Amino acid sequence: MDRVFHHTSVLPEETMLAIDPKASGVYLDMTLGGAGHSIQILERSSPDGRLYAVDRDSDAIDFAQERLKPYTGRFEIRRSRFSDVASWLGEDACDGILMDLGISSPQVDWGHRGFSFLKEGKLDMRMGADEEETAADIVNAWE
Ligand SMILES: C[S@@+](CC[C@H](N)C(=O)[O-])C[C@H]1O[C@@H](n2cnc3c(N)ncnc32)[C@H](O)[C@@H]1O
Repeated sequence: MDRVFHHTSVLPEETMLAIDPKASGVYLDMTLGGAGHSIQILERSSPDGRLYAVDRDSDAIDFAQERLKPYTGRFEIRRSRFSDVASWLGEDACDGILMDLGISSPQVDWGHRGFSFLKEGKLDMRMGADEEETAADIVNAWE
């Protein structure tokens, strides 16, 4: 990818105080995004804490895979919707769960994603190029 997926994590210290990651702990980041919070969790749960990380957006996943490489073996990334997590992750599987709800900055900063009012781009609004219908398809073709 030639663009940089840059997102500044909100309240990183406060979030880590609340989750309090520990060695040997298992954590779930439901909103991986630019991986800022995930890295904090992996750092603070060193040397053997584990992380499941989820995002619906394929650009976020591609970028986060690279950023998390130094922690290989301690994390598993899934492209998934929040609503699907319970189908693959058991109850009580985690010691802490983070949901940083919203969108990541690049989703609105990059015109081609179709979310921006300020940048030129087709009305796309998909969370990955493999999703079939764009927002343009829906508003122009649906009843
Ligand atoms: C505020 S960002 C997370 C930023 C991240 N905490 C960080 O530090 O970089 C929210 C993320 O949630 C993802 N997201 C939005 N709706 C989702 C859904 N229904 N299922 C899974 N992920 C979703 C977005 O793609 C976005 O990357």
